[in-house]
Amino acid sequence: MKREQAWREQNGQTHMPLYDKLEQYGNSDYYPYHMPGHKRKKCGSLPEQILKADITEIDGFDNLHEAAGVLRAAQETANALYCSEETFFLVNGSTAGILSAISAVVSEKGHLLIVRNSHKSVYHAAYLRHLRLSYLYPAVNEMFGFGEAVTPEAVRAALDSEPDIEAVLIVTPTYEGRIANVKEIAESVHAKGIPLIVDEAHGAHLGFAEGFAESSCTAGADIVIHSVHKTLPAMTQTALLHINGKRVDRERVKRFLRIYQTSSPSYVLMASICDAMEFLKKNAADAFAVFRRQYMQMLEDLKACRELCFPSADDIVSGVQDIGKLIIGTKTGMRGQWLYDTLREKYHLQCEMAAGKYCLAMFTVADGAEAYERMTQALLEIDALLNESCFRSGQCQIAVSQQRTEKSLAVKQGEIRVPFCEAWDSEWNLKHFSEAVGCAVGEFINLYPPGTPILVPGEILTEELYDRIRSYQEQNLNLQGLVKKEGEDFIKVLEY
Ligand SMILES: Cc1ncc(COP(=O)(O)O)c(C=O)c1O
Repeated sequence: MKREQAWREQNGQTHMPLYDKLEQYGNSDYYPYHMPGHKRKKCGSLPEQILKADITEIDGFDNLHEAAGVLRAAQETANALYCSEETFFLVNGSTAGILSAISAVVSEKGHLLIVRNSHKSVYHAAYLRHLRLSYLYPAVNEMFGFGEAVTPEAVRAALDSEPDIEAVLIVTPTYEGRIANVKEIAESVHAKGIPLIVDEAHGAHLGFAEGFAESSCTAGADIVIHSVHKTLPAMTQTALLHINGKRVDRERVKRFLRIYQTSSPSYVLMASICDAMEFLKKNAADAFAVFRRQYMQMLEDLKACRELCFPSADDIVSGVQDIGKLIIGTKTGMRGQWLYDTLREKYHLQCEMAAGKYCLAMFTVADGAEAYERMTQALLEIDALLNESCFRSGQCQIAVSQQRTEKSLAVKQGEIRVPFCEAWDSEWNLKHFSEAVGCAVGEFINLYPPGTPILVPGEILTEELYDRIRSYQEQNLNLQGLVKKEGEDFIKVLEY
């Protein structure tokens, strides 16, 4: 703190944005006899501008793990914006926040209630802390097959049946943008005297303007984790962890942040978080109003489609669907991967992901008119193509015939033979995938993205899951967890 004050006095600075401060330092005559090894000089192909701003915890630049100066002020700006009581910068994505939050609020070997379609980092935290997991299985969206947001009723029922649960973790908005009733869930969780962690990785943009859902920071959650990089103008890996209330031991959260995060946090990334916060401070109301208007206009224009389908504008207005996640499906059952490939190859529109029945395009406040025009134009053209009878009798027919066997992306209640943590540490054998139905698996099987498990170690590979995984393979979706040997698929199975 003393060093920080001295630097400020010396440089006559109090509230200079972090990036400006880095730039000023980069242009000064201070010579770096310190890390990083590039010494702020161009030595490869990276632009010098980036390297000049890439410093370590030198005088005047504070220390993320003991923030008392410029980084503390920056974190306070973020917590004021989100109306949280305390906010921490994360330079290793929401992943680091989820690991720290779970480790801090649940005792070792304790019991945690999570949604079954949680991000893999939730499972990794459970593994590291040897936790016992209970699952909430969200309903399946009928049109697209993904999991809906979890309901307060489901949370209450689970809490009533398992009295030793120490904390609850929910995901909202989901990868596909479905939004939970956090207020009611928080009340139910708090009624049991335990904390609620909200994985709001996809919701850093919430709560800043009318027409967007409320942020979980003000809806009653005890810990909220935001990937700034997912839905705000910020660099990859940037994220925030917010804490509210007295149910969470903040010293334990800080301890685990120190354990899971690097001791050399990137100032370029932290400056990017600051930039995003400045953006929110200065432009949020206007920028989000424009974002909403453009997005809703696109949905209106896409109503002309006869074969393609999208989430309804009513879902957005009623607050169950987030703005920005454009889910694109077809009434004929044309595969998500086909839509994804067509948008990419023919129109040079790179979507976020392809799933069984849909592909997902993301829009944020950083998109201008071109983003909406190009997507609308492309989708109207694809829709017209799907309507052409010649096309129907060609490639499209394959997809129509496959529609009947199409399986849902949502996770259904599965049979658990071995608890997850024990299973992941157990001996496994490789078995030919086609002979493994009925076995307990020894490794996660998931699609990436979104990185939520189809099978968790210890769960049984059922006939239905086998078919579903095979159908993902046929569609060339990015499936992780099987082992390829001499062109054949194998799977790790347990000897239980
Ligand atoms: C729901 C959810 N939570 C957490 C994460 C992890 O976020 P990050 O990539 O910022 O570590 C993701 C990543 O895709 C996610 O989808």
